[in-house]
Amino acid sequence: MSERPLSESGFPVKPVYGPDDVSPGLADRLGAPGEFPYTRGVYPTMYTSRPWTMRQYAGFGTATESNARYHQLLRAGTMGLSVAFDLPTQMGYDSDDPIAHGEVGKVGVAIDSIDDMRRLFDGIPLDQVSTSMTINAPGSVLLLLYQLVAEDAGVPGTALKGTIQNDILKEYIARGTYIFPPKPSLRLVADTFAYCRKEVPKWNTISISGYHMAEAGATPVQEIAFTLANGAEYVRAAIEAGLAVDDFAPRLSFFFVARTTLLEEVAKFRAARRIWAHLMRDEFGATDPKSWMLRFHTQTAGVQLTAQQPEVNLVRVAVQGLGAVLGGTQSLHTNSFDEAIALPTEKAARLALRTQQVLAYEAGLTGTVDPFAGSYVVEAMTDEIEAGVRDLLARVAEHGSAVDAIEAGFQKREIETSAYRIAQEIDSGERVVVGLNRFAVDEEEPYEPLRVDPAIEAAQAERLARLRSERDAAAVDRALDELRSAARGTGNVLYPMKEALRARATVGEVCGALREIWGTYRPSDRF
Ligand code: 3HC
Repeated sequence: MSERPLSESGFPVKPVYGPDDVSPGLADRLGAPGEFPYTRGVYPTMYTSRPWTMRQYAGFGTATESNARYHQLLRAGTMGLSVAFDLPTQMGYDSDDPIAHGEVGKVGVAIDSIDDMRRLFDGIPLDQVSTSMTINAPGSVLLLLYQLVAEDAGVPGTALKGTIQNDILKEYIARGTYIFPPKPSLRLVADTFAYCRKEVPKWNTISISGYHMAEAGATPVQEIAFTLANGAEYVRAAIEAGLAVDDFAPRLSFFFVARTTLLEEVAKFRAARRIWAHLMRDEFGATDPKSWMLRFHTQTAGVQLTAQQPEVNLVRVAVQGLGAVLGGTQSLHTNSFDEAIALPTEKAARLALRTQQVLAYEAGLTGTVDPFAGSYVVEAMTDEIEAGVRDLLARVAEHGSAVDAIEAGFQKREIETSAYRIAQEIDSGERVVVGLNRFAVDEEEPYEPLRVDPAIEAAQAERLARLRSERDAAAVDRALDELRSAARGTGNVLYPMKEALRARATVGEVCGALREIWGTYRPSDRF
């Protein structure tokens, strides 16, 4: 039994809901599935014609090891790939950079150059599989490497499907892998939108993410409000860079968490779609219905998993995944039960995928669209979340823009306050965490986690040394100079960047050249 009379967002939860809890005008607030304001889902038929994409986030060690995991995931029935990069790659450093020491291949795969990227996707049909890459500050660099590898395999940019996270604003708020200051970062995002529209038109150019804010402690209302505020900021930046809203908005995508609190989460997803549709149509004047659609990926809440009695996490993940599906997600990652301890073992990763398969093929969820529509409690919660998000969006706007609010430390402070409250509730036992502060056992069964081999750092450095001795150094220098001069001016930096990568410049060299021109971001003391 839940002991908390308040929802995660802090709204009172009533023991019984009825018709009076749903304000008049519900039909207008809902619309039909696939129609404005998309409360009921972005497609008219949703999962009845195609289930969500089962997309398991994976990657560790070298490109070769990760490639083997991708093949194994595809054989097991995943429908799309989701690449995890190690921290040096995410920060734009090569594996042999002193700053990378101890981190190579740890939280994801190490990618230094086109050679690694080729190994990473070896044998994977890039014209068929859609690939998401969780990469932000160097998002454009990894996208171009992907395109170069595909072109070598005879697959043109126009056939590529996938997503780069590319959401730098939430990095300043919650995740931390930023490189450049906000202004040039936003320019790079706008350049990427423009490049993709021309060269890789089916690519989702950004995955505007609330997930990491939620992991840092944001409530559902904060998660949605801060994410949509960032989304609006990207839209503004792209419009200011001269793009027409309907030229890039259809390829914006989102990324949220699914917590164990199922009803509120379903309401959250529905409210998010409705608010974004209004924002795009009414505020930004978008006229293409695709620009109004909030399409999103979901990951189950890692922060809610426990290291104690880890098998209980299988149950949590099933409930969280169910919430995402009932909320109409387009793509889903279900966490492995051992993720609170270490990198998932192969067995745990398979079970996580099997959880999605049970939801898709056994639970009868793909037969009908938006099954919670008209539920008194879910509709009431959807309206409450919408109102809460709108209030918080107004508070962000009081700072000027989302970037101004970030620079004032507003979002981070709000999230920290919520995180503190949650920690207190867990400590006091008011918030029950099964196996942790209630129903604990005296002795845990031993568990053998997967560990990354530390030798891969040396192997990666050796490969880099070979690459640097083999390539045409003068051509690389010339290409990096072209990139520097584009970064100084106003031209789209992705074109010279692609040439540099083709000449086998490394991720670290490309990001280093941009660092020289744009500088690096230093958070204000207020953080
Ligand atoms: N009717 C008609 N068409 C349909 C349909 C239906 N019912 N269902 C699907 N389709 C079509 C779509 O229109 C689409 O075609 P299009 O590309 O031509 O428009 C195609 O089928 C594929 O469907 P979706 O676009 O719905 O699904 P995708 O899986 O391709 O894309 C996405 C989903 C959310 C838009 C995309 O951005 C995505 O895949 N995101 C994944 C992001 C991700 O994996 N992130 C991992 C983050 S991990 C992380 O951050 C790490 C850490 O720190 C936690």
